[in-house]
Amino acid sequence: MIGKIKEKISRYKKGKKDAEKKEPDLTSRVKTAEENKERQGWISPNYSQSKRVYLDPGLIAENRCFAHLDNVPEMEAYRVLRTQIMQRTRGTGCNTIMVTSALPGEGKTITAINLAFTFAREFQHTVLLVDGDLRKQNIHKYLGYAGDRGLIDYLADSAPLPELIKWSGIEKITLISGGRSCQESAEMLGSPRMKELVSEMKSRYHERYIIFDVPPVLSGADALTFYPLVDYIIVVVQAGKTSMDDVKKAVQFLPQEKILGFALNRCLTSSQSEPYGQ
Ligand SMILES: Nc1ncnc2c1ncn2[C@@H]1O[C@H](COP(=O)(O)OP(=O)(O)O)[C@@H](O)[C@H]1O
Ligand SMILES: [Mg+2]
Repeated sequence: MIGKIKEKISRYKKGKKDAEKKEPDLTSRVKTAEENKERQGWISPNYSQSKRVYLDPGLIAENRCFAHLDNVPEMEAYRVLRTQIMQRTRGTGCNTIMVTSALPGEGKTITAINLAFTFAREFQHTVLLVDGDLRKQNIHKYLGYAGDRGLIDYLADSAPLPELIKWSGIEKITLISGGRSCQESAEMLGSPRMKELVSEMKSRYHERYIIFDVPPVLSGADALTFYPLVDYIIVVVQAGKTSMDDVKKAVQFLPQEKILGFALNRCLTSSQSEPYGQ
């Protein structure tokens, strides 16, 4: 009898563990499809073609991707950025944004991920987050899933587009990150096939933003080759580290009319440390 009870408890624990593995807590933090569908004007994307991947909530938090959580100081800054983007792009048909910086390690990938999470909380829009840092694809690593196919598989090896696009399990966010890397990344980003792809992404779904995580401006030709394909640019600056000279140099290489703004990373001011109204 005791043996049977122990077996039942162990089966229950195993089942619970499996369920936790399959349905990360993260997914429920952003509104579920059903909850959202009840809201008027809800836009539900079609994920039937995208393969589902399972994100790792622990790793995501460790990597400072916070924007899916409530009441984190970072969330407010991303909300402001989202609002600015929406105000600038409303009614223009402009929906492609690249995130870059002057130098490596300033927080481009973290910013691009958090921005995508923030858009997913806005019920009118969907987001496709694309890893355009072809020598250092980190989006899938920071989110904790194995990215088996990415842009290079499409650009160089003609992998079908639906094989690249993964659904994160968070309603409204799809991802392209992973696959093989390549040294001729600038040539890939500037290729006619890439141009066609961006144009296809741009027009595919109404009300979808496409966010590209792109290498730094001062470390190679990638960002400069790629910016003609996007509508807007966000420049990440690491507070207290990037020199004004480097920021100015980087900005001079970019078209001013496309710069949507600067995202100051690693900057926790006293006003940011406590959420407004608490
Ligand atoms: N606000 C932050 N606070 C602490 N660590 C950060 C912050 N933003 C980024 N990092 C860390 O800095 C490193 C570089 O960030 P990443 O987004 O990969 O930069 P980039 O894409 O510009 O090279 C990562 O290890 C990341 O976890
Ligand atoms: Mg990066």
